[in-house]
Amino acid sequence: MAERLPVAVLISGRGSNMRALLEAASRPDYPARIVLVLSNVVGAPGLAVASAAGVATATVPHKGLTGAREAHERLVDAALREAGAELVCLAGYMRLLTPFLVSAWAGRMLNIHPSLLPAFPGLDTHRRALEAGAKLHGCTVHRVTEAMDDGPILGQAAVPVLAGDTEATLAARVLAAEHRLYPAVLAAVARGEAGRVPEAGAMLLNPLPLPGLAD
Ligand code: GAR
Repeated sequence: MAERLPVAVLISGRGSNMRALLEAASRPDYPARIVLVLSNVVGAPGLAVASAAGVATATVPHKGLTGAREAHERLVDAALREAGAELVCLAGYMRLLTPFLVSAWAGRMLNIHPSLLPAFPGLDTHRRALEAGAKLHGCTVHRVTEAMDDGPILGQAAVPVLAGDTEATLAARVLAAEHRLYPAVLAAVARGEAGRVPEAGAMLLNPLPLPGLAD
């Protein structure tokens, strides 16, 4: 097999998407390997998961750091390069990025977001989807550009919104979809296939029978 793409994963919390990427990358035929898991939050639970899996971890706290946001990002960028990363996956990394980090990794940084972008960028996506009466919800993996939760979409997974859903039940359904989507998109990117067949980046999970279309 060709060289596996060295990837760093940035997290701020529990790191369940990071775990999904680690599990995928543990398979011998997966085209990427995780060289670093980095958090901006001291003691982020995902760090222990990564360490237990034998993956290098780093913490670059933003709290207590004097100076601008960019000063923090310069430290993050140095750690990413030191680890030999060639691609960065944001996985619940809850920091707004400055043009410095975005341009340093232009075209080589992915993000996962818990909505079918361009619907519901930002926070509280599940509550907003319920309030809007959405019938389909889901998640998106996209390349990172300077605008938040924007940038070319590489893959999406849709799940139904069911009668009686709460924010928690909907979030759990979307999270399970995230765990399938992110490894699939990363594999396509690592193989240089992302975007070549647009439909290949779409997943419809647990589809509901459509009225009138049953055969
Ligand atoms: C995930 O749902 C991810 O899509 C979201 O944070 C969660 C992190 O969970 N990211 C964003 O909202 C970014 N805009 P995890 O730490 O268990 O992967």
